[in-house]
Amino acid sequence: MALQVELVPTGEIIRVVHPHRPCKLALGSDGVRVTMESALTARDRVGVQDFVLLENFTSEAAFIENLRRRFRENLIYTYIGPVLVSVNPYRDLQIYSRQHMERYRGVSFYEVPPHLFAVADTVYRALRTERRDQAVMISGESGAGKTEATKRLLQFYAETCPAPERGGAVRDRLLQSNPVLEAFGNAKTLRNDNSSRFGKYMDVQFDFKGAPVGGHILSYLLEKSRVVHQNHGERNFHVFYQLLEGGEEETLRRLGLERNPQSYLYLVKGQCAKVSSINDKSDWKVVRKALTVIDFTEDEVEDLLSIVASVLHLGNIHFAADEESNAQVTTENQLKYLTRLLSVEGSTLREALTHRKIIAKGEELLSPLNLEQAAYARDALAKAVYSRTFTWLVGKINRSLASKDAESPSWRSTTVLGLLDIYGFEVFQHNSFEQFCINYCNEKLQQLFIELTLKSEQEEYEAEGIAWEPVQYFNNKIICDLVEEKFKGIISILVSPLCLQGLVLEADFHPITPRHKLADQRTRKSLGRGEFRLLHYAGEVTYSVTGFLDKNNDLLFRNLKETMCSSKNPIMSQCFDRSELSDKKRPETVATQFKMSLLQLMEILQSKEPAYVRCIKPNDAKQPGRFDEVLIRHQVKYLGLMENLRVRRAGFAYRRKYEAFLQRYKSLCPETWPTWAGRPQDGVAVLVRHLGYKPEEYKMGRTKIFIRFPKTLFATEDALEVRRQSLATKIQAAWRGFHWRQKFLRVKRSAICIQSWWRGTLGRRKATKRKWAAQTIRRLIRGFILRHAPRCPENAFFLDHVRTSFLLNLRRQLPRNVLDTSWPTPPPALREASELLRELCIKNMVWKYCRGISPEWKQQLQQKAVASEIFKGKKDNYPQSVPRLFISTRLGADEISSRVLQALGSEPIQYAVPVVKYDRKGYKPRSRQLLLTPNAVVIVEDAKVKQRIDYANLTGISVSSLSDSLFVLHVQREDNKQKVAGAHLRVGGLSPWKNPHPPRSSSITFAGGPGRDGTIDFTPGSELLITKAKNGHLAVVAPRLNSR
Ligand SMILES: Nc1ncnc2c1ncn2[C@@H]1O[C@H](COP(=O)(O)OP(=O)(O)OP(=O)(O)O)[C@@H](O)[C@H]1O
Ligand SMILES: [Mg+2]
Repeated sequence: MALQVELVPTGEIIRVVHPHRPCKLALGSDGVRVTMESALTARDRVGVQDFVLLENFTSEAAFIENLRRRFRENLIYTYIGPVLVSVNPYRDLQIYSRQHMERYRGVSFYEVPPHLFAVADTVYRALRTERRDQAVMISGESGAGKTEATKRLLQFYAETCPAPERGGAVRDRLLQSNPVLEAFGNAKTLRNDNSSRFGKYMDVQFDFKGAPVGGHILSYLLEKSRVVHQNHGERNFHVFYQLLEGGEEETLRRLGLERNPQSYLYLVKGQCAKVSSINDKSDWKVVRKALTVIDFTEDEVEDLLSIVASVLHLGNIHFAADEESNAQVTTENQLKYLTRLLSVEGSTLREALTHRKIIAKGEELLSPLNLEQAAYARDALAKAVYSRTFTWLVGKINRSLASKDAESPSWRSTTVLGLLDIYGFEVFQHNSFEQFCINYCNEKLQQLFIELTLKSEQEEYEAEGIAWEPVQYFNNKIICDLVEEKFKGIISILVSPLCLQGLVLEADFHPITPRHKLADQRTRKSLGRGEFRLLHYAGEVTYSVTGFLDKNNDLLFRNLKETMCSSKNPIMSQCFDRSELSDKKRPETVATQFKMSLLQLMEILQSKEPAYVRCIKPNDAKQPGRFDEVLIRHQVKYLGLMENLRVRRAGFAYRRKYEAFLQRYKSLCPETWPTWAGRPQDGVAVLVRHLGYKPEEYKMGRTKIFIRFPKTLFATEDALEVRRQSLATKIQAAWRGFHWRQKFLRVKRSAICIQSWWRGTLGRRKATKRKWAAQTIRRLIRGFILRHAPRCPENAFFLDHVRTSFLLNLRRQLPRNVLDTSWPTPPPALREASELLRELCIKNMVWKYCRGISPEWKQQLQQKAVASEIFKGKKDNYPQSVPRLFISTRLGADEISSRVLQALGSEPIQYAVPVVKYDRKGYKPRSRQLLLTPNAVVIVEDAKVKQRIDYANLTGISVSSLSDSLFVLHVQREDNKQKVAGAHLRVGGLSPWKNPHPPRSSSITFAGGPGRDGTIDFTPGSELLITKAKNGHLAVVAPRLNSR
């Protein structure tokens, strides 16, 4: 379903509209469910909310069309000026919630959509501010919603008014009096399932603070004939059905009742004991609870129920005729119950039901009754018992509602708000005395309504100094006079001696009504015998006179009265007073009593400020959403709504106090917007001039402006609507600007706050750091100054720092390998530790290095170490040899003769090198191979081992300090074969020359032969030259590679 959500111009109402369905409700932004429209802009669809704004105000069709439009949109309320017209929706529209009450509290009548609560609030505020008694008159035909309206009003006051200082229970009592009175005084009729069969006027008293402190109810003429008879489709009073349906088993047993209503003759005449719209069982619970709230004791409830039950039993009393045609009671059981329930003597009651006591010339005579008379007497008793109990009930409720502080001074300052819920005008097929009284009452109220509205209108014009133009309207005074005029009126005729003495038969009664005589021939023909017709303001009603006189005289035989006076039932004894028996005067007839009470009511109403609610019934079928135009037109007519409207529109369609008018429309004129400093009246004058009102369109009164045509107001309203949009946009823009600026400022403030806090924190941190740094530097300087002093607090930090720094620095600058000799300079205090660390470090590196080397390399190194021990610093070309690796041999296996190898046998060759051997004599150079085995040095010439020198025989090896590659092998003298050889000599690992000492002299002497020594002289030169010198020495010129 496509929903259209509409924002109605007051800005607070959201309504969901669907073209083919009744108005759906939605929650407005204020949480109020809304069915009321609020502005005139919606008038095309929902009509105007005040009939005075109808352009064609004289057209009944336009009036009905407006009602229809609004009804279709579930807008059941519309104003005619201050009068509220209400159409019964026959469905719960959810428009009476607490939120609705709050919405209508304290706001001006015209600011909010029409509602009953608006009337309620206006009345209440007038009561409080003006301290004048108020009366809300609710009228309309049966089923139009008067009682509902009364209840809603009461609910409004109960919930919204402040609680009284004492006796807060009065609010509950006011509310709870309703269900009780409805149970006893309402019944289902053809027109209404909860029709009030009595008139009710209720006063609610408010103290000076506006709190309800008490109440009082006036009841009018209960339709008591209903107790004994109901038309088809109608019921007796609710209480009977409620008791049977909802009463506890024990209660019913005690009262001698059965649950089934069909067992009671008084309940079956209308043949509709069960009604779907009524839940008797739950209603009974409500009534029982309400009785407790309105101060009924358990005994009083018992007594009351006894009376209700006794009426039912009375209905079941049967008579039979004896041989003399006198009536005799045949239902002994019922009589027994009656006796007990009414607490009367059984025999007395039996006699009273079948006899009539006549007092003639001071003598009492008992005359037996025939069957018809006995039934009449029984029914009369039932009616009297019930109606008097009802009156007692109203009295009892009044005592409960009466303010307990009636004597206190504040009581005197109370104000009264009256609520009138009278039975509505009704027309049935068969209209009897009750309808006559009811319709007469409505006639009187209509008259009062016309008088008061017209009067107030006229008064307003006068007060405002505006010329009053007379209005034509139908005055129903003529009908009222016809009923109540002295001597000539129907009521007077009913109490004429002839009528009272029964000398006029009912059949003869009709011709004497004066109206009848005026009727034309056709009307006279349409009337049956025993009928008369009254042209009421609400329409013609033909009354049947059957039972008229009886009902008017309300005759209860004397002995029945006497019997009831003797009742021990406390309620009955209050209802039937013995003084009644001794009173010789004829009691007033019902119609006369009613007329008097109505006069009294009129006085009451006239003494108060009136407010009106005019209820309309939309259809006879009690159906929601059905708008029966014929029925409504009829009601509009008889309620005089068109007249009311005409009176209201006599001249001016709209009027408003200057303040209110200016307040609403001031935005339309630059001079009055946003504020007008002068008198409101002047402001309005400026405003209307600005709006371009023509002089004939409006008049300025003393306190109000009067606008003649609705179109003038509509144009103003439309202009306001447009203006509101632009104002709303401006306000929105301003608000958004303000809102965002506020937000921005808030954010800015927060940012600054955070910034300054953070800066502070940073500053503090920096300051702390600086302070710490300054302290540290200071300590370091002091420590530095005292660094040589023994450790003391002043230098401890510095010393620790230096040590720590050294260690940390050391960690970074440790030597990378064994050859790296760098080492940071330690502070004096750590010198020893530094040394230890250094050793450790070197050891560690060496250890690591050693672990990492291969066996071949180890051997190489060992040989290098030996070479170093022997030659380092002694042999000139030693440094050059250090980086050169030793090789395992200088001769391959293929270069050594196999014969030599054979000669050596298993002895392995550890090193082989080609050498030049110099003879000891003559120093002749000869090429040889020098082989080293584990045991000896072998000199080989080609393929022949020339010489073998065992290491055991080797006494030494001599070399020069120069770079000459010459060495001398020294052997024992006996083995006088010392060899001089030039070769690349590898000596490492050759035991027993582990520590040879190369000679430092520049010549080497060796044993050259027996008794003769040879000498080799070494001289440095540019290149190697080995020659035999003249002196017989071997002269070796060796180049010097390293200068010392
Ligand atoms: N405002 C309302 N909202 C919903 N339902 C309503 C409203 N007014 C009346 N009704 C319905 O209409 C029925 C008849 O209303 P109510 O009893 O108030 O009529 P009445 O005018 O008092 O008639 P009578 O003159 O017969 O006493 C109510 O029982 C209720 O169901
Ligand atoms: Mg009612």
